Amino acid sequence: MPYLPPDPPLTLGALSGITLRPAGPRLAAWLPGRTTLFGSGRAALWGLLSSLGIGAGDEVLLPAYLCESVVSPVVAVQARPTFYAVRRDGRPELAELNAVIRPATRAVVLIHFLGFPGPVREVRQLCEARGIALIEDCAHGLFSRLGDRLLGSFGSAAIFSPWKSLPLPDGGLLQTNDARLRAPTPRARASAAATLARLAYRAVGALEASAGWSPRTWLLRRPWVRRDLHGRTSGAAVRIRASSAVSARMLASTVPEQVVGHRRAHYAHLLDSVGRLSWARPLYEGLPEGVCPLGLGIVVENRDRWRDALLANGVNVRTYWEHLPAEVDTDQFPEAAWLRDRILVLPVHQGLRSREVEWLARRLLTLDPTRRSSVSVRRTAAERPTPTDKG
Ligand SMILES: Cc1ncc(COP(=O)(O)O)c(C=O)c1O
Repeated sequence: MPYLPPDPPLTLGALSGITLRPAGPRLAAWLPGRTTLFGSGRAALWGLLSSLGIGAGDEVLLPAYLCESVVSPVVAVQARPTFYAVRRDGRPELAELNAVIRPATRAVVLIHFLGFPGPVREVRQLCEARGIALIEDCAHGLFSRLGDRLLGSFGSAAIFSPWKSLPLPDGGLLQTNDARLRAPTPRARASAAATLARLAYRAVGALEASAGWSPRTWLLRRPWVRRDLHGRTSGAAVRIRASSAVSARMLASTVPEQVVGHRRAHYAHLLDSVGRLSWARPLYEGLPEGVCPLGLGIVVENRDRWRDALLANGVNVRTYWEHLPAEVDTDQFPEAAWLRDRILVLPVHQGLRSREVEWLARRLLTLDPTRRSSVSVRRTAAERPTPTDKG
């Protein structure tokens, strides 16, 4: 039985990117606009809010389904995070979004969840009409397109978190599409020791994958471990830093076409299996042209049980997001809580081999409680997702 890591692990091949000639113009074609490298997506968002002059007394509208790392940069510039309702696919309720814009609102953040484009043209129109900035959060959407345009090219500016899609030790990207915006240049960098530690951490994923075993599949079944991990990742404070030189080199030597090609092929393969499951359905129908998926989002009832079953089978699934920020009132935004309790994200990254994806596609089917060969996962009919659950 293989072990499938949730993100692309650092292999020797990927590391050799440090010494390779940068892809330069090829990469530039996948990152339009002016870009500034930061150490993380949240630092890039801090830089963006600062360049927009957003501060005390201002409000920034965020989707109610999100993680702390989107809220903390708003708080760091002393602005007030306020929230708008999302549907059961994580996309905004446009009429409600329009209704919650107030004189103090300076910007709307639109998250392209899992790399699938949100209604960015509509939100841009709305922002233009109300005279506020549109910030595209492309933390999940590196190299993803809507039609023939890259995500991140529609708003006033965008942020990315390239370490989520690529095996980098760190990295955040601020892209400005408005010539008037001046991004601050971060001066501090992570220490060499911190970068080495992060490289080692990502390399462990490669060792675990080749050993076909990881202690994480056991540890992540413990709620307190997940809570602790969440606090150290999503909940970590914004540190205003530049990216490490290693990440900058590795990013520059990335071949985007390969990343997009692998992710799309893996996604399409798994989608076929997910479509046949009685215990889950895909969050998004199909795989629109141009989308570079971060993972395959599935909607399940009794999510924790299915996460445990997948972990027990060596599949390191992610939950986006098991914990919502304290600022989100789930009585006011029940759909955000609905998503929080039901989403699992299957890995589709470029670090997976086709035979591992093939194995996962078959494994998903054998987990089906309606099959005799199912593992020890039992479920009542009431837990099965119904067609009416679709957002
Ligand atoms: C949607 C979204 N935006 C921004 C961020 C922040 O990125 P980083 O972790 O690189 O700071 C995250 C991180 O999880 C995210 O999921």
